[in-house]
Amino acid sequence: MTATFFFHGKLYICRPYYLFVMERPPILKVQRLTKRFCKKTILRDISLDIIEGEIFGIVGSSGSGKTTLLKTIVGYLAPEQGDVKFRYDYYVKKKDKDGKPLYASVYRQQQMARSTFGFASQEPSIYPKLTVKENLKYFGSLYKLKKKALESNIDILLALMDLKGSQKTLAGELSGGMERRLDIACALIHDPEILILDEPTSDLDPLLRDHIWSLVQKINKKGTTIIMASHHLSEVENFCSRIAIIKDGRIVDVASPARLKTKYAESQQIKIQSYPGSYANIVKSLKKPGSKPFEFNIKGSELILYSDYTQEIMHELLHTLEVLKEELIDIKVSRPGLDELFLKLNARK
Ligand SMILES: Nc1ncnc2c1ncn2[C@@H]1O[C@H](COP(=O)(O)OP(=O)(O)OP(=O)(O)O)[C@@H](O)[C@H]1O
Ligand SMILES: [Mg+2]
Repeated sequence: MTATFFFHGKLYICRPYYLFVMERPPILKVQRLTKRFCKKTILRDISLDIIEGEIFGIVGSSGSGKTTLLKTIVGYLAPEQGDVKFRYDYYVKKKDKDGKPLYASVYRQQQMARSTFGFASQEPSIYPKLTVKENLKYFGSLYKLKKKALESNIDILLALMDLKGSQKTLAGELSGGMERRLDIACALIHDPEILILDEPTSDLDPLLRDHIWSLVQKINKKGTTIIMASHHLSEVENFCSRIAIIKDGRIVDVASPARLKTKYAESQQIKIQSYPGSYANIVKSLKKPGSKPFEFNIKGSELILYSDYTQEIMHELLHTLEVLKEELIDIKVSRPGLDELFLKLNARK
C-alpha cells in the first residue's frame, strides 16, 4: 500500500517501512514584483514560488491586485521591478551542469512563456458569433498547432469540459456555466503547463460553481499546475494546496488552508452590537497603551474584535461600553471560520 501527499513543496511517498521525500523544484518563481499604474503602486514586492502540480489560490478583496498580479505573472503587463521565471528546461530539454532546472524570464522569453501559460481572464474572451468548436479552433490557431494535434486537443477538451453535445452551438447562445467552461477550454487548447484562472466561478450559482471546481480538479489531476484568483477563501479552501492572501498589493500570508486555520485557531472573535454604535470610539478606547493586542472589523451594524486574549478583551470591552454609555444589544464569542479569518487579515493595518 502506498500513500502520497504533498507538503511544503515536497512530495512524500509513504510505503510500509519507508518514507521517501522528493523535493519538487518550483515550476514558477515570482521574484519581488512591483507594478505601478501611473504613480499608483498596485503590486508591492511580491515573491512566490509555485510548485509543479499544485492548485495555488490567490485570495483578496476587490481592488487588492489579484488580476494585476495574474496579468503580470503571464507577461501581459511588465513590472517596474522584479521578475517572473518559468521552467525553461522543459522546452530546451536540458538542465544546468548540476542537473538543476533552468529558468527563464517570462519578459525575455515571451514566445515560450506564451506556451507555458493558459489564461482564462475574469471577462470571458470567447467570440459569441463563433460556435464552441470554432472558438477552440480559433484559439488553437493562435498557437500555430499542427492540424492533427489541434483536432485531437479539441476532442479531448470537448469531452473533458462536458461540451461535446454543444460543439455546434454559437458561443453567444451558451448558458453562463457553459460559457465559462468554453473559456477555460480555450485557455487549455495548447496544453499549457500552467493554467491561470481569474475568478472562474464569479456570478455562477452554487451548483454551477461545484461543476467548475470538479473540472478544475480533473484538469489538475491530468498534470496541469493551476493558479487561481478568488474573492472567497471558504470557496477555494477545499481545492487549493496553498493559498496566498493579498491585501493592497501585498502578500500578507501564504499557507495551506489547514495551516491557515491552525495558525489562527487560538484566536477567537467577539461580535457585538451596541447603541448608538460609535464603534470607532470603542476601538480607540480599547487600544490604550498596555492593553492586550486585538484586530477589528466593522461589518454592517456589528463590531468584530479578534484576539488571542478573549477574556481580557471582553472585560475591557464591557467596561468601555459602560464608560462610553453604549447600550449592549447583542454579544457573541466564537472561533472565526475561513471567511472571517480573511476579514481579520484584511482588517490589519
Ligand atoms: N490598467 C489600469 N490602469 C490603472 N489602474 C488600474 C489598471 N488596472 C487595474 N488598476 C487598479 O489597480 C488596482 C487593482 O486592480 P485589480 O483589477 O488587479 O484588482 P482585483 O483584486 O483583481 O479586483 P477584483 O476582485 O474586483 O477583480 C485597482 O485599484 C484598479 O483600479
Ligand atoms: Mg480581478
